[in-house]
Amino acid sequence: MSSIVLGVSGGVAAYKAAFVLRAFTEAGHDVRVVPTPGALHFVGAATFEALSGNPVTTDVWSDVPDVAHVRIGQNADLVVVAPATADLLARAAMGRADDLLTATLLTASCPVVFVPAMHTEMWLHPATQDNVATLRRRGAVVLPPAVGRLTGPDTGPGRLPEPADIAALATVVLHHGTAALAHDLTGRRVVISAGGTREPLDPVRFLGNRSSGKQGWALARVAAARGAEVVLVGANVDLPAPFGVHVVPVGTAEELRTAMVAEAQEADVVVMAAAVADFRPETVAVSKLKKGSSAEPTAVPLVRNPDVLAELVTKRAPGQLVVGFAAETGDDDADVLTHARAKLARKGCDLLVVNDVSDGQVFGRADNAVTVLAADGSVTELSHDSKDAVAAGIWATIASQLPPEPQS
Ligand code: CTP
Repeated sequence: MSSIVLGVSGGVAAYKAAFVLRAFTEAGHDVRVVPTPGALHFVGAATFEALSGNPVTTDVWSDVPDVAHVRIGQNADLVVVAPATADLLARAAMGRADDLLTATLLTASCPVVFVPAMHTEMWLHPATQDNVATLRRRGAVVLPPAVGRLTGPDTGPGRLPEPADIAALATVVLHHGTAALAHDLTGRRVVISAGGTREPLDPVRFLGNRSSGKQGWALARVAAARGAEVVLVGANVDLPAPFGVHVVPVGTAEELRTAMVAEAQEADVVVMAAAVADFRPETVAVSKLKKGSSAEPTAVPLVRNPDVLAELVTKRAPGQLVVGFAAETGDDDADVLTHARAKLARKGCDLLVVNDVSDGQVFGRADNAVTVLAADGSVTELSHDSKDAVAAGIWATIASQLPPEPQS
């Protein structure tokens, strides 16, 4: 169990902080909510007290004998400020201490994550951007806001990411520090495929696989948090779009291929995390195959699907990194890593993320363990962890291999 301080500043998205709080307490953490006085215009202290089981105060004149304005920050393992308004970011960047939350920020030596939410004009204002740059320079994580519906009729960047995204990313920082969400993919475009293709047999049946899409979704979420522009080509994945990520839904291997080839053209990094069916039924019946009818199949002839990864490698733009995934089991001929090294060479990609699926231990689960093999021979082991933490490790490896950005 860790001690988390959840700072809440005064924006309408403050109601979502209750869900972030819930996610932390359900994971077993002790959470102390520190709202600004403005936040309590949106959500009452009783809500935060009931959900956290801890007292809630906003000013430095309560709990004076406990020196709360110093102790809360000193004792925290992680501080998350969600939502962080333009005013809160400005006061934090200035180092002010005019309420309990800003005083706490000054005494915290643990990782700090700010999750901004505000109107687009406020977010894009040079004053706010300077404050964000200052906070990042000092080592805090400042997540980019999601793009979408804001209060009233406005839409644009400034929306608070969904509570599940915030909790997942903050947990990565809690366990792995702020470097796990380094802001090192700004200006980079990344294209990720995820999920599993479905190859139709008739209007109601398909050949599919057990990929849930969770690892690809985590890769997209972490890439967006690290500043990338992210396109996620999702094959049959029933998960909400991660914040800031543009999702292109596809069904079959052929659809996935078309989307990936088009999206990859301008990409700095292409990641093929999807489980693409190697084969599809040779013909697709236009009406349902009924048992006992003359159309009842006795066998299903299959034909090869295109190898999307191999095609992306041949079409790779200069400086672009292509990352493949390999789900492997060992066999009588070779172990998992020997098979994987052969596949890296065969596919010609720059990096191969290797999953050992010997015991069906990956599909649909919230955690994972992988080995990342690079074409230059380097090997990175990412031990058992949440799929978001594994995604952070994969991005750190990818970022270390990216050529420097051209100076504009
Ligand atoms: N892949 C692809 N197109 C296919 C099959 C796989 O782009 N038709 C990609 C996957 O997205 C993954 C990588 O290739 O990034 C390796 O997938 P995997 O199924 O492990 O390998 P295969 O190519 O199917 O090789 P093998 O059958 O020998 O295991």
